[in-house]
Amino acid sequence: MEDSLTVTDNRTGRTYEIPVADGAIRAPDLRQIKVDDDDFGLLSYDPAFLNTASCRSSITEIDGDRGILRYRGYPIEQLAEHGSYLETAHLLLFGELPTEAELEVWTHEITYHTFVHENVKQLMQGFRYDAHPMGMLISVVAALSTFYPEASRVDDADVRMLQVHRLIAKVPTIAAWSYRHSRGLPYVYPDNDLGFTANFLSMMFKMAEPRFEAHPALVRALEVLFILHADHEQNCSANAMRSIGSSKVDPYSALAGAAAALYGPLHGGANEAVLKMLAEIGNLKNIPAFVEKVKAGEGRLMGFGHRIYKNYDPRAKIIKQVADEVFEVTGRNAMLDIALELEKIALEDEYFVSRKLYPNVDFYSGIIYQALGLPVAMFPVMFAIPRTAGWLAQWLELVQDPEQKIARPRQLYVGSDVRDYVPAGKRRAVAATV
Ligand SMILES: CC(C)(COP(=O)(O)OP(=O)(O)OC[C@H]1O[C@@H](n2cnc3c(N)ncnc32)[C@H](O)[C@@H]1OP(=O)(O)O)[C@@H](O)C(=O)NCCC(=O)NCCS
Repeated sequence: MEDSLTVTDNRTGRTYEIPVADGAIRAPDLRQIKVDDDDFGLLSYDPAFLNTASCRSSITEIDGDRGILRYRGYPIEQLAEHGSYLETAHLLLFGELPTEAELEVWTHEITYHTFVHENVKQLMQGFRYDAHPMGMLISVVAALSTFYPEASRVDDADVRMLQVHRLIAKVPTIAAWSYRHSRGLPYVYPDNDLGFTANFLSMMFKMAEPRFEAHPALVRALEVLFILHADHEQNCSANAMRSIGSSKVDPYSALAGAAAALYGPLHGGANEAVLKMLAEIGNLKNIPAFVEKVKAGEGRLMGFGHRIYKNYDPRAKIIKQVADEVFEVTGRNAMLDIALELEKIALEDEYFVSRKLYPNVDFYSGIIYQALGLPVAMFPVMFAIPRTAGWLAQWLELVQDPEQKIARPRQLYVGSDVRDYVPAGKRRAVAATV
């Protein structure tokens, strides 16, 4: 059997042979299909990339129908059970889990870069007292490019690697400081004798004590959450990272754009939206009425549904276990009862079952973050910290891929045909459409 597709253009009766590789045709091959010589050639129309592969990637594999998520071939369940976040970041970025010696060097490199320039602190202090921490994170990450102008040399492998170390190390510091700022608390410098996650918790919560000792169960829970959120192949923010990175801008600017994509309620803002929804429901007895409203098309059940997972989200299973471990330390969160009941009803309801709507990772992560004492505005920030490794892995793959060029989609132009300019005084009012 030939690895090709035979296409007959019914407009002309002509037949074309289009090669198939890795289960895909190359969209530019469609351009030869024309009705006449003036025709630009056939385009494929795919708003929101529902069926378009934008790259070849060997980082993360998802099989949405079977509920599979693997980083470089390793099942997410195994990494979450046995691994650490820094090991996982190494795996994503370099393709392999580090040996003991490699892990020591890698950990040292990241730890060495956790501090930020003092001017970054001043920059952050300039934000309004009630600035959203995600808005602060996005802006400050973009500003880092002005501190490291050499980062624009994206074709230099050593320069690239230095920025990778800096970003993975500094994003938690900026993230924690954005939280301290919103609480009016002094910023806490990194404690480089602590591990990645324990240091982050110290920068978040340390007050007058000489050393902040986070509960080991909470450190581990956060480690697992970070592993689960480290990458998720070509999602909205990874696509933003690649699209912006394809212009060969420095990784700070590209990562700020990726973080901005993550901020939206349909992506990384979803866990914030889940908590707002649970607060709006407020009480177990209000759940049936809320579900009816969703079914009537008035709003969505936040934390449910996924573009890719149409069976279940494997991360949601792991995170539910983590939630139990966290609640043993922090005590049960009132929101959890509402979430569990909502999940139970939705999983039995025909509306959700027939549309394959299952809880996604964000359904529980918000409840855990709240139990850790974090305000909802910090939730997308908590997502951005570990996703930094994924964004950078996607970026490194992009800049080294000889097939990639500046990202530039086509459009189907459906606007006015040519028309002549009319002076303002002679124009007729037309209802605005934008
Ligand atoms: C994640 C999400 C954006 C994926 O969207 P998508 O793949 O484009 O799916 P669609 O928007 O085409 O939805 C398909 C159908 O399910 C319904 N649907 C999807 N998610 C829903 C939800 N969370 N609550 C209620 N109905 C939902 C849609 O209304 C649509 O119904 P219809 O066929 O009757 O019109 C979407 O499920 C959503 O908005 N979820 C809530 C936000 C969220 O949790 N995001 C986090 C993602 S990790």
